[in-house]
Amino acid sequence: MSLLKNDTFLRALLKQPVEYTPVWMMRQAGRYLPEYRAVRERAGSFLALCQNPEWATEVTLQPLQRFDLDAAILFSDILTVPDAMGLGLYFVEGEGPKFSQPIRSEADVDRLVVPDMAKLRYVFDAVSSIRQALAGQVPLIGFSGSPFTLACYMIEGGSSRDFRRIKTMMYQRPDLLHRILSINAQAVARYLNEQIAAGAQAIQLFDTWGGILSDAAFVQFSQQYLTEVITALTPASEGRTVPVIVFTKGGGQWLESLVETGAHALGLDWTTNLTQARQRVGSQVALQGNMDPMVLLGTPDAIDAEVRRILADYGTGSGHVFNLGHGISQFTDPEQAQRLIDQVHQCSKQYHQSF
Ligand code: CP3
Repeated sequence: MSLLKNDTFLRALLKQPVEYTPVWMMRQAGRYLPEYRAVRERAGSFLALCQNPEWATEVTLQPLQRFDLDAAILFSDILTVPDAMGLGLYFVEGEGPKFSQPIRSEADVDRLVVPDMAKLRYVFDAVSSIRQALAGQVPLIGFSGSPFTLACYMIEGGSSRDFRRIKTMMYQRPDLLHRILSINAQAVARYLNEQIAAGAQAIQLFDTWGGILSDAAFVQFSQQYLTEVITALTPASEGRTVPVIVFTKGGGQWLESLVETGAHALGLDWTTNLTQARQRVGSQVALQGNMDPMVLLGTPDAIDAEVRRILADYGTGSGHVFNLGHGISQFTDPEQAQRLIDQVHQCSKQYHQSF
């Protein structure tokens, strides 16, 4: 394996000194890039892109060819795991992901098992292929959905506005939901360990829907299973720690609690104040975030001002990875993303002492 030319991102996650604040963007490969839309057109569908390691490699590298990003993220989807469980993932244009066989009965839960990782070979092959193509330029992030977020899609059968089905199960048959979450946690841990073995150098757990839970339910139904996953992860690979980032959207009120999961870093959406978040977690974890992705639809001056504000909110020293508070909008002009990345690199130097 080649030596990393730029390990700023990995150092920031471990709160080791850096020269500037590293930056990447959630959904950095995607529809806002014309070159992504062109490859997707050739592939025929989003899933075909994910399932072909050559195409997945090409689109993973696209944003890095344009921008001076400090990390690459595997091009795939969180729903590959329930698909491998036999739930039948498909996408309807304009409606997002759907499952043809969602979990709707106790019999469905009885049938659910940790999938054979051979069914996800295409993901691990993509990881190896991307590592090779990156040639040590920047680290590669592997990822998975959290056990709870996966369960939301598995039970609702797709996106949901009110999460009625999963909440009905939670309040009528919590035992069934715990069985699903336990299987998901084992599946996610195995899936991530295979990604690490194939070359992933950091891991992000997307707990996109943790924020829909009550305070008490969050600990029982999401946080507990995040902890199970993190405890089972390979701690180091190629002689380096593999840092784990937990991103609970809408989870700003649970930061102290989320530290207990064993994560190295916590992702923040844009509703949390970064100064206060840093005070609350102290030296225990690094923080990632937290610009509203819609700022990129504003003026260049608005982008500059928000970048400066967020960097100032975090303040001096390592432990901050700049990111958006959720995925980049498909309506973003790539020039605006360029502006953000350059601005982070330029303005952040003053917050890191150089000797
Ligand atoms: O960040 C990256 O660049 C890596 C790739 C990535 C995708 N999805 C590509 C994608 C990652 C990390 C994800 C994670 C994911 N997928 C999450 C968690 C993060 C989040 O956004 O909260 C969730 C909830 C999903 C499920 C999913 N996949 C949804 C809801 C959708 C539809 C969204 C939409 O905008 O239509 C997808 C499809 C998807 N995943 C696209 C991409 C680039 C759009 C595919 C296309 O139409 O070309």
